[in-house]
Amino acid sequence: MIFEQFSRIGIIPVVVLDDPKDAAPLAEVLSKNGLPCAEIAFRTPAAEEVTRIMSREFPDMLIGAGTILTTEQADIAMNAGAKFIASPGLNPKIVQYCIDNCIPVTPGTQTPSEMEQALELGLKVVKFFPAEQAGGLKMIKAVAKAFTDLQFMPTGGLNASNVKDYLMYNRIIACCGSWLIKRSLVAAGEWAKINALVKDAVAIVKTVRGAGVKR
Ligand code: 3PG
Repeated sequence: MIFEQFSRIGIIPVVVLDDPKDAAPLAEVLSKNGLPCAEIAFRTPAAEEVTRIMSREFPDMLIGAGTILTTEQADIAMNAGAKFIASPGLNPKIVQYCIDNCIPVTPGTQTPSEMEQALELGLKVVKFFPAEQAGGLKMIKAVAKAFTDLQFMPTGGLNASNVKDYLMYNRIIACCGSWLIKRSLVAAGEWAKINALVKDAVAIVKTVRGAGVKR
């Protein structure tokens, strides 16, 4: 089950790549450091090819597609090997399309109405986006009380300092964001720096969840 894997991994890096040549080296850094996962943001022309390369060359990694705004994009991502689909908002058409194609989908939600809609569509896990700007952990805790069957993947505004608090809350499966894989560092080929950032992130997950957060 993909959500159990997300939960074990703890942090899902949102990856915005400009050049498919960076796909394999980045996947290597992520998987060798114990973060075998990436949400490839479909907002650069390289996204489809990046997804294809990572999925093909690193079949054990959980490579998914983010910023999916149409069912056509979902199709392209699935054909490129994406194992999950994520969107900034809740588009029932996309959610249903993913359900019909048996692909896990995590739409972005922010309001109780959107969360109810997600439940109505049969989902158990949603993104909370943009997390920090929309009220952060305090807001998630407030809505989680009402939606006892929902689990959350906060995305947006997370960073190395605040991610610990989110990870500690047992209704949060995993935290997503772009802070970890900086587009500029990738473009500059700063693999040693990226390696160190990924190591730090994995250490944070271990520290926070090492004792075993009950979920
Ligand atoms: C996304 O596409 O999910 C967001 O860019 C993630 O938000 P962040 O860049 O603030 O981490």
